[in-house]
Amino acid sequence: MTPQPPTYVRDLDIEKPNAARMYDYYLGGSHSFASDRALAAQVEQVAPFVRHIAGINRAWLRRVVEYLMSQGVRQYLDLGSGIPTVGNVHEIAQRQDPATRVVYVDYEAVAVHHAAELLRDNENATVVWADVRDPRSVLEHEETRRLLDFGRPVALLCAGLLLFVGDEYDPAGLVAGYRDACASGSYLAISTMSQDEADPKTAEELAGLLALYELAGERVYPRTRETIGSWFAGTELVPPGLTLLHDWRGETADQSDPVWTRHATSPARLLGYGAIGRVR
Ligand SMILES: C[S@@+](CC[C@H](N)C(=O)[O-])C[C@H]1O[C@@H](n2cnc3c(N)ncnc32)[C@H](O)[C@@H]1O
Repeated sequence: MTPQPPTYVRDLDIEKPNAARMYDYYLGGSHSFASDRALAAQVEQVAPFVRHIAGINRAWLRRVVEYLMSQGVRQYLDLGSGIPTVGNVHEIAQRQDPATRVVYVDYEAVAVHHAAELLRDNENATVVWADVRDPRSVLEHEETRRLLDFGRPVALLCAGLLLFVGDEYDPAGLVAGYRDACASGSYLAISTMSQDEADPKTAEELAGLLALYELAGERVYPRTRETIGSWFAGTELVPPGLTLLHDWRGETADQSDPVWTRHATSPARLLGYGAIGRVR
């Protein structure tokens, strides 16, 4: 399958830093360009915890998929899936059940092409090049339709996505639109950025990070816990509910891992919330 460009194409411009490739860089991936690394280095100067934001989010996503697999979910729609890196959704899921179906969606060219390459021989996973703000282009895409049966439970994953979706695109309405396309018993997983619990120093460093991203044309929108909670309308939150990302089912992580300890002591721990809701 050769991915087709989305309605709102994000051209490949290697001179211009890009949030997807910078995230890959923070996670230790190798799919960034000099422009991405230059801005990432500036961001690390003003907000030294930025790698932990990425790492904590990625670790949360892993625990989410493990939980959903334990609940019998075998279909995943991963919105804003990013550049493939260690611990991709299909790797975690298909290790347990190779028949698990995964559709990745991203609007960033590098993310989509690397995913397509990685999934070339995988009959049960695919990537759709689309802008999630146009749900029809995702939900009606032939690849989505080929792999996912919306008459049965689907897991909608929005990990580290909605911080890039401005209020003018009505994130609550967007989430509701995807949720309503899914059968009862589906799951909605969201992680996103917040500064509600940040101490003054961390809040100031985060403001520096946001300013640098904005200068690069990648606006980031931290949200309040209340707003994030409202995105789970129409679902029942799975225990432990909406928590700081690092705390969400943290007991299921390998706490002897030194990376876990580094995350636990980083101010980044206070900068994001996540939850899973079960669609009524
Ligand atoms: C921080 S990364 C998260 C990647 C992955 N979901 C994870 O949690 O590890 C955010 C991703 O969302 C993608 N993204 C942001 N806005 C998007 C949009 N409107 N449509 C599709 N993808 C989008 C970016 O290209 C990027 O790859």
